[in-house]
Amino acid sequence: MMAERVIINDVGPRDGLQNQARLLEPVDRLRLIQALLDAGLRHIEVAAFVSPKAVPAMAGAAEIMASLPAMKEACFTALVPNMKGYELATAAGARSVSMVLYASDEMAQANARMTMAEAETVTGAILQRAREEGVRISAYVSVAFECPFAGEVAPAVATGLAGRLLAAGADEVTIADTIGAANPLEVRAMMADLVQEHGAERLACHFHDTRAMGLANVFAACESGIRKFDASIGRLGGCPFAPGASGNVATEDVAMLLQQMGFETGVEAAGLMRAAALAQELTGNAPGGRAKAWLQRQHEAA
Ligand code: COA
Ligand code: ZN
Repeated sequence: MMAERVIINDVGPRDGLQNQARLLEPVDRLRLIQALLDAGLRHIEVAAFVSPKAVPAMAGAAEIMASLPAMKEACFTALVPNMKGYELATAAGARSVSMVLYASDEMAQANARMTMAEAETVTGAILQRAREEGVRISAYVSVAFECPFAGEVAPAVATGLAGRLLAAGADEVTIADTIGAANPLEVRAMMADLVQEHGAERLACHFHDTRAMGLANVFAACESGIRKFDASIGRLGGCPFAPGASGNVATEDVAMLLQQMGFETGVEAAGLMRAAALAQELTGNAPGGRAKAWLQRQHEAA
């Protein structure tokens, strides 16, 4: 029997790098992207079309889009906060765009200087454009469980927003625990509700590992039927506008968890170790997956 497939979307070149003290040139970010491709990853968030004043680390996004390797089966995504970002991203050749929405007004203000409702209106306009232009849209519900400013968020806020985004034509909705405050029980419950209502096909999850619950949350969402996860190579990550957010769950750890559970991810450990080593070399701040030492020993023994 063929193993069931789970997609890992590596957001290291975006979420992972946006908050680093060391700013990387596009050429080095492209090296990281290539290392991820070499490890077998085929879904990568490669850039953000945001104000370079707001996020200096993401400057040069158009240069990255222009220099991506031609690879038909790869899905390269660019993040945008607003219509200007959508226009810049698609002009630079992006065919898959992630749009950020918010489960609290406070986060919407901090991140994009909009209200939640304004962000939803802008997204509606972007979704309409994207449909006409054949661009794929992944909508993120950020701070879905807890906001660093407003505290706990009622599950109905995120599930309601997710439902409206799917109804409005988003190709995918990603539930994001931006600051790593969710626990596995609430993840399991929310994702089970969403899967029951909308099916798992157009849903994904994005976890940060701030409190060491990242992998447990991946497991919980997986148990509820989710088959696509964001992760960052080397446990890079953290949002500059969400105090307390630390790295994403590590790609190495998510890949190992899923493989041990019998899923097919298409990635291989030696390539991931090389990509994680490159992330560390470039940033000086990629601690690596929690399974790093174990993987290293397996590799040396082989
Ligand atoms: N890309 C590049 N520049 C952008 C932009 C975009 N998507 N959106 C706005 N700008 C520029 C404007 O041209 C303007 O430039 P100027 O000062 O040289 O004239 C400046 O940003 C402010 O524009 P304005 O429309 O007033 O934006 P704002 O101040 O209301 O909003 C954001 C600021 C949202 C653009 C900015 O905070 C941002 O890019 N945030 C990114 C947040 C982020 O990446 N978060 C992490 C990922 S979740
Ligand atoms: Zn994130």
